[in-house]
Amino acid sequence: MEWMEQPLAELKEQSLLRSIRPSAAIVGKAGRIVRDGRELLDLSSNDYLGLSQHASIKEAMIQSLQEEGCGAGASRLISGSRLGYEQLEAALAQWHGTDAAVVFGSGYMCNVGTIAALAGREDALFSDRLNHASIVDGAVLSRAEHIRYKHNDLDHLESLLKKHGSARRRWIVTDAIFSMDGDAAPLRELVELKYRYNAGLIVDEAHSGGVYGAEGQGLAAELGLSGHIDVHIGTFSKSFGVYGAYAAGSHTLRSWLVNKARPLIYSTALPPSVIAGVQRALLLIRQERQRADAVRGHARLFRETFTRAGLQVTGQPDCPVVPVMTGDAESAIRLSEELLLAGIAASAIRTPTVPANASRVRFSLSSAHSGQELQEALSAVMNITSRMGMR
Ligand SMILES: Cc1ncc(COP(=O)(O)O)c(C=O)c1O
Repeated sequence: MEWMEQPLAELKEQSLLRSIRPSAAIVGKAGRIVRDGRELLDLSSNDYLGLSQHASIKEAMIQSLQEEGCGAGASRLISGSRLGYEQLEAALAQWHGTDAAVVFGSGYMCNVGTIAALAGREDALFSDRLNHASIVDGAVLSRAEHIRYKHNDLDHLESLLKKHGSARRRWIVTDAIFSMDGDAAPLRELVELKYRYNAGLIVDEAHSGGVYGAEGQGLAAELGLSGHIDVHIGTFSKSFGVYGAYAAGSHTLRSWLVNKARPLIYSTALPPSVIAGVQRALLLIRQERQRADAVRGHARLFRETFTRAGLQVTGQPDCPVVPVMTGDAESAIRLSEELLLAGIAASAIRTPTVPANASRVRFSLSSAHSGQELQEALSAVMNITSRMGMR
């Protein structure tokens, strides 16, 4: 094991060593956490709608635990599927306006499993360079030709689609909202390209689900493009406040994934209580849109304030992922640590998650944050970044 020590020491030297810090939730209080005995404003989680502490979701989960027990026991293909899974999948399909949906253990498993099941050796997979790591890993596992186009660069993508015209099948895959930049994929143009070059289009709504769309279906729905997306992917770990994920599309897609997606076939199904919680969260997301309106307003406030102050911020005006660019990793760590001293948890994001000179601190907002909490956080960021000479 000694061989690991030197590379780890080098990571430390470069401010790139990662560690997992203990933290605790505060019962009933989304948007805050406890670390080292101190209560902090949590701007590091993706609990965009504050549902991770919602009383009615907890009740649904507790009731299911009492009635159905703790674990599912096996893969659904081995021991069968409980009613809750089928009901949830029907509701997800109805929500997206698709024929069917299938639930996976997590967003990571869903992307890896779906992409590796859909694309094969003779196919070409066109993937935005900033797509999430789970899409990259799915592409590698698929053994398809993995072609990464420059971020949101439609001309580059089109030139690559032309160049790889002889592939058996072509797939375009993109995050709807990019997790580290908070910007949106040009879905309308991607739909045009998909038709022009006879490609399938897979859209990962991990960070847009719950937030965008009339009933929270995501960015494709917000833009009126749902019917043109071949595979909708979403996760229950962010806006839903629970855990798990899904792929939605045609009946044939569902049947293919049930037969070919290895993380679905060879892994135990999510606990029934998680499914019960997700079912309840879906109802809240569809019916109570005020949380999405609130978090989008928070995002506008953060971006406007940062931009006016001369900080470098990326992304859609109302996207709850708000990154402040620092460039080097040391500054990202310093900003994050000084914020911590001010009672705010916000993560420093460094390579390999983002390019080496594009380190940043990412602020993830939640509808659970109050106006006062946001103002306090903004003034802490202003003070610290001014002291650091960032503006
Ligand atoms: C775009 C995107 N897809 C998928 C995932 C993975 O989802 P999960 O956390 O449910 O595994 C993430 C999570 O960070 C993500 O940002």
